[in-house]
Amino acid sequence: MDSLLIEGGNRLEGKLDIPRSKNASLPLLCLSLLTDKKLCYRSVPDVADIRSLESLLASLGVQKLAPGEYHAKEIKSVKADYELVRKMRASVLVLGPLLARTGEAIVSLPGGCAIGERPIDIHLDGLKKMGAEIQLEAGYVHAKAKRLVGTDIDLHFPSVTGTINLMCAASLADGKTILEGAAREPEVQEVAHALNKMGAKITGEGSTRIEIEGVRSLSGLEWEMPADRIQFITYLAAAAITHGDLECSPIAASQIESVLDSFRQMGCEVETNERQKSVRLISRKAFKPIDIETAPFPGFPTDAQAQLMACLSLADPESGLSHIEENIFENRFQHVSELRRMGADIHVKGNLAAIKGVPKLSGATVMASDLRASASLVLAGLAAEGETKVLRVYHLDRGYERLEERLQSVGARLRRVPQ
Ligand code: EPU
Repeated sequence: MDSLLIEGGNRLEGKLDIPRSKNASLPLLCLSLLTDKKLCYRSVPDVADIRSLESLLASLGVQKLAPGEYHAKEIKSVKADYELVRKMRASVLVLGPLLARTGEAIVSLPGGCAIGERPIDIHLDGLKKMGAEIQLEAGYVHAKAKRLVGTDIDLHFPSVTGTINLMCAASLADGKTILEGAAREPEVQEVAHALNKMGAKITGEGSTRIEIEGVRSLSGLEWEMPADRIQFITYLAAAAITHGDLECSPIAASQIESVLDSFRQMGCEVETNERQKSVRLISRKAFKPIDIETAPFPGFPTDAQAQLMACLSLADPESGLSHIEENIFENRFQHVSELRRMGADIHVKGNLAAIKGVPKLSGATVMASDLRASASLVLAGLAAEGETKVLRVYHLDRGYERLEERLQSVGARLRRVPQ
């Protein structure tokens, strides 16, 4: 297991091109299961989760013809094996497409993970309402339906992958499906747009009510993977925490407005340029403490909570406390104990964290526990006095593409230590 060695205290300055979105690319690649035509993607992110999904898709019959080109002329297996699914929860995204295309899907239950229990009842209840017969057998979901039938579905929470799975399934269903309480995240909108380009009839994406008129078949696709709003925010946070000046692109700033607001409240200067799809963050003074509540889009994303907490741990100690309320996952404060080891003053009660700024963090050996927690430890290391060693970097490699190189190019001093 590789680790990262970070020499803290360098101000980051310059321009960065941010890689494309893992969380949009994962469901976009799964669209290959919905059609016997070829799909061609540009700018597929080069991260471990994408490679895991490619292995799973290959086991089902999706051929990778060239980089970014996927073709499932025939589905050769409807079983998503535990060995492949366990590597990544997002594997559940094959369930809706497989069932809709072949009438059957056997998918290993993804199970919980470091950040929470993460049930998939919303996915399963929706498919059942569309007429699927679903059984749980020896750790697998076994779903069958000759053809799914459009219906009205109420999601009890706006699950991102739940909404996408049901949208995919409904695209090939008989008749109209209405998803009420749907997720509004940019990744959901992106998948809807790609499906429409393939011939699906989806309206309302970006709102809480999505309507899908089923079609008989879907065509191929040429598509460019969209911006990664969470990596984007992470690099802006790197500028903030090192009191630096970074201009990052590409992004539609509206996708990260809630976080840009938080940076502004903290006292950072934020300049957006819609035409160039860039955001520049300049951090000149000590942060003001702020309060954050994570919420579904367009609220503050849970995936950016850990990174902002690292920044707030260095807020002006004389100006009071910051508070973070985590409302999406039940166990997403695992970075707190590690940040404390670096000198942060953070107290957690349930889903609430109170953060009292300290004048400085000190380098330490810390353990990454999940993807975004790892990012927050790297950020803390960039600002800390002395050397920080972040263990278990494989968590970062799941969703951050060549993070060290990018940070080095704008003045950070860090290197990977292979084990
Ligand atoms: N939930 C249920 N039942 C379900 C599905 C979800 O109760 O059937 C609950 C979850 O337990 C959780 C909440 O609903 O408490 C939100 O979960 P959601 O389903 O929206 O999350 P997800 O689709 O599994 C995606 C991202 C996550 C991101 C969340 C929230 C992908 C591949 N993953 O997960 O990304 O945190 O949405 O925005 O898109 C990450 O990239 O680090 C990451 C964890």
